[in-house]
Amino acid sequence: MESTGRCGAVAARASGDLLLGIVAQRLIPRAEGSGRLPVFEIVKSNGRTRECVEKGEHEGKTLVLHPVDPLKNARRKRPPRGGAHAVPPEKPVSFDPPKHTAHRALLNGLFTPKRLKENEEFMWHLADRLIDEFIADGRCEFASAYGQPFPLLVIADLLGVPEEHHAMFRKLLAGNRPAVDPEWAQHDADGTVNMNPLSYLDKWFTAYITDRRASPKEDILTEMATQSFPDGSRPEVVDLVRIATFLFIAGHETTARLLSSSLCVLAEDPDLQDTLRRNRERIPNFVEEMLRLESPIKSDFRLTRVATTLGGVDLPAGTTMMLLPGAANRDPAHFDCPAELRVGRSNARQNVAFARGVHSCPGGPLARIEGRVTIGRILDRMSHVQISEAHHGPAGARRFDHVPLYILRGLDALHLEFTAA
Ligand code: HEM
Repeated sequence: MESTGRCGAVAARASGDLLLGIVAQRLIPRAEGSGRLPVFEIVKSNGRTRECVEKGEHEGKTLVLHPVDPLKNARRKRPPRGGAHAVPPEKPVSFDPPKHTAHRALLNGLFTPKRLKENEEFMWHLADRLIDEFIADGRCEFASAYGQPFPLLVIADLLGVPEEHHAMFRKLLAGNRPAVDPEWAQHDADGTVNMNPLSYLDKWFTAYITDRRASPKEDILTEMATQSFPDGSRPEVVDLVRIATFLFIAGHETTARLLSSSLCVLAEDPDLQDTLRRNRERIPNFVEEMLRLESPIKSDFRLTRVATTLGGVDLPAGTTMMLLPGAANRDPAHFDCPAELRVGRSNARQNVAFARGVHSCPGGPLARIEGRVTIGRILDRMSHVQISEAHHGPAGARRFDHVPLYILRGLDALHLEFTAA
């Protein structure tokens, strides 16, 4: 196998493409679970990883790379589900054009400048509401108190979920085991409890969209329910349900991890807190640096549909590739001293945390605003934010648990102490 030190994304050419994936599955959780050693430091890059990530989906008119859902095979092994609200599990991220292009147009309709502006107003209020819940304690477990519920409710607002249902969404999706809560449990056709927490979302969005199609109102759900594909045809209810539920999958955990990573870095550095408190205009670039250094999506998967050459490596058709945006973001050929946080880094925004190409993240602008609002509000309302030694150990010997996944990078828990400003 070619050394992973040369180009993580194409390293597996000689020994079979699955090998890198298997090694990565074992290596990444172990390395990250043991502390803050980012896997991007293991899979170093010489410029070609970025090339692979940036290549996008097309080469001329030939479709080269087909997105792969790494969980698909695992899912297939499970017995089929037949609940009353079962929505087929395919998501837009694994579609190819032209189907992807049509579905992506529905998605883009949700991220208009007007909608983002309204959504930002909601974020400022939401940030205050969540901080109010724990500020008097002088301490919090940030990931569950803020990091998880904040992006969840931001997406609920973006989609126009009625505010009286927000508490329910929070309970279902940011809770521990909502599937087994008798109040909410969904059952498959054979009567067994469906353990997929998103089955609730399928149910609710099917109901919302069906309702708005039958009785349109002046609201965002109606706008969503009455959208058309670019060719003028009307999407099935299930197409819209898929889009809505996928936003929760794609935009919730990713942003939650970005927020916790950012707070962790801030809490370790009182000077940085002062700098950002006094120079608010530098917060957006701090968020870019966190996207670059902590890249919540560590890996994407692609399948070559035709033989091609990528990063200088010949790839036969049918090769599964693991692309590593996080490694590309620490590419010394692109970023000086890539492992260092530099709030003033001029090209920080050139990170590829949101990927490139037709599947690049449509939620990037939203996630950036969420980062900016969160950091701004926390600096407004708290001073002396620091890591809890009782939970994470003393400075220089901290212990953090990261999610044991090879797709996502982020902290499981972050205990903070602070003074209310
Ligand atoms: C820090 C936060 C986020 C990160 C790091 C992130 C990263 C990514 C990446 C790397 C992809 C490409 C996946 C691939 O090519 O296989 C992606 C796709 C996607 N993201 Fe995000 N994302 C974030 C937040 C969001 C938010 C807030 C939303 C929406 C509310 C969102 C919605 C989506 C959707 C719908 C796709 C699929 C696009 C497509 O296939 O056309 N993401 N994201």
